[in-house]
Amino acid sequence: MNVSQLAQVTSDYEQEVAQFAADVLTGLSSESKYLSAKYFYDDTGSELFRAISQHQDYYLTRTEYEILDRHSRQLPALLGEDEIDIIELGAGDGHKSELILNSFLAAGVKVNFYAIDISDKAMDMLAETIKEKTNLTVRGLVGDYFDGLRFVKERSSKRQLVLFLGSNIGNFDHVESKAFLRRLWSSLNADDYLLIGFDLKKDINELVSAYSDSSNYTRDLNLNLLARINRELGGDFDLSAFQHYAVYNPVLGAMESYLLALREQKVYIEALQQAFHFDAFEPLHLEYSFKFLPTEIDSLCKQTGYKLIDNFSDSGERFIDSLWQVSLRKP
Ligand SMILES: C[S@@+](CC[C@H](N)C(=O)[O-])C[C@H]1O[C@@H](n2cnc3c(N)ncnc32)[C@H](O)[C@@H]1O
Repeated sequence: MNVSQLAQVTSDYEQEVAQFAADVLTGLSSESKYLSAKYFYDDTGSELFRAISQHQDYYLTRTEYEILDRHSRQLPALLGEDEIDIIELGAGDGHKSELILNSFLAAGVKVNFYAIDISDKAMDMLAETIKEKTNLTVRGLVGDYFDGLRFVKERSSKRQLVLFLGSNIGNFDHVESKAFLRRLWSSLNADDYLLIGFDLKKDINELVSAYSDSSNYTRDLNLNLLARINRELGGDFDLSAFQHYAVYNPVLGAMESYLLALREQKVYIEALQQAFHFDAFEPLHLEYSFKFLPTEIDSLCKQTGYKLIDNFSDSGERFIDSLWQVSLRKP
């Protein structure tokens, strides 16, 4: 690994498993059952996401790659810094981040790159992609977004550019995304920057096939969450008794991913010493992927305390990477 230092910034493994168990208990005890998508990304989940991101049906990754390939060279001039701390939240394998880092390096800017991801496996993949070189230091932080940000804040004195790519923001509902952006605002300094990826509202067939790819990687990613509960919490989910179902909700403006119980069943989870009953065809909600209009991006920016500097889009106008700057006004 050529990531200069790798730090585990979240609590220890036992605390993580206890938190996982508590979140599973809350979700499966709810009247409408749900599990948090943040638990998708164990080693198998991160490998599956990489396969999804390279799949023909999943337009998001290659579209955002096109945007960064076309526009990231504008960033150094827009920011006007000689040295910058670039902090990526949920970096994944880092292959899009590399375009941004290279743009700053090519413009003669010294870059301190901090990659934060909850998944060890994602950090291993990132270390394969991004190597330290002249003017570039790389620090991998395994942990939750804000644990990673706290770690960086204690060490960073430079202008910061936070990357939140891949439409990760779409996994929050409208209330959560505002809360997230305001919390991020309060952890940054005045005039710091945020480059944030938004998937745009578009043809519903294109959306649905992206979240139900023809190789079934998305189905496998969702089922892997049940397998993870079996492995880490001693569950007895029968994976063959659940069906993946992805649907666009036009009222919310979001893709929704579910696993549907194919028959009435009970699932016992050892770590919780509890059984959970599923009716036949009962849905288990796993993920939202909210889609945006450009006007919704503008108002989210204003409402959460940032100034919109520029929107960068692809040739098909399917996705926007929006550059925001922290404004002094309290959100
Ligand atoms: C959908 S993938 C996107 C990866 C990459 N940003 C991209 O655009 O291809 C989401 C990534 O965020 C990470 N992640 C999800 N929730 C997280 C959290 N709460 N804290 C830190 N990382 C998280 C996952 O491990 C995964 O690598």
